[in-house]
Amino acid sequence: MPDPASLAALHAQAFAHPWSAAEIAALLDTPGTFVVAEDNGFILARTLAGEAEIITLAVAPAARRRGLARRLVEAATVRAMALGAEALFLEVADDNVAALSLYRGLGFEIVGRRRGYYARNDGEPATDALVMRLSLNS
Ligand SMILES: CC(C)(COP(=O)(O)OP(=O)(O)OC[C@H]1O[C@@H](n2cnc3c(N)ncnc32)[C@H](O)[C@@H]1OP(=O)(O)O)[C@@H](O)C(=O)NCCC(=O)NCCS
Repeated sequence: MPDPASLAALHAQAFAHPWSAAEIAALLDTPGTFVVAEDNGFILARTLAGEAEIITLAVAPAARRRGLARRLVEAATVRAMALGAEALFLEVADDNVAALSLYRGLGFEIVGRRRGYYARNDGEPATDALVMRLSLNS
C-alpha cells in the first residue's frame, strides 16, 4: 500500500484544493476503496453494491502525456471488475479538457450533469460536473 503522504504530495501537484495525508489515509481505510499508484501518479477508487467510482486521479505535471493516466484508469477498471463492479462512474469538471478527452477515449459516456458542483476560489462562477459512466459488462 503506497503511503498517504506521497499520495498527498502527488495530489497537491495536480489539484488546486489538495487533500491532506490524513484525509487520504481515511479514504484508504474505507471498505471497498483501493488505490493503484506509480511513482508519478495514482488513482483512488471505491466499489459499492456492484458499482465503482473513481474518487481521484492525479498525474504529476512533469509526467503527463505519456499514457500514465490511461494506464491507471485501465488498471482500476480491472480491479473494479474483479471486485464485482458492473459499471465505473466518475465526476469531472466540464472545463477539464484533458480529463474529458482521457475518459472519452477510454469509452466513458456522459450520463449526467451536476450544475455548479465545483466552487472556485477566485470568485469565478462554480463549474458544472459531468457524471461519466463506463459499462464493465460488455
Ligand atoms: C487528466 C490527467 C490525469 C491526465 O494524465 P496524463 O497521464 O497526462 O494522461 P495520458 O498521458 O494517459 O493521456 C491519455 C489521453 O488523455 C487525453 N489528454 C491527456 N492530457 C490532455 C491534454 N492536456 N489535452 C487534451 N487531451 C489530453 C489525450 O486523449 C491522451 O491521449 P494521447 O496522449 O494519445 O493524445 C492529468 O492531466 C492530471 O493529473 N490533471 C490534473 C488532475 C485532474 O484533472 N484529474 C482528473 C480529475 S477527474
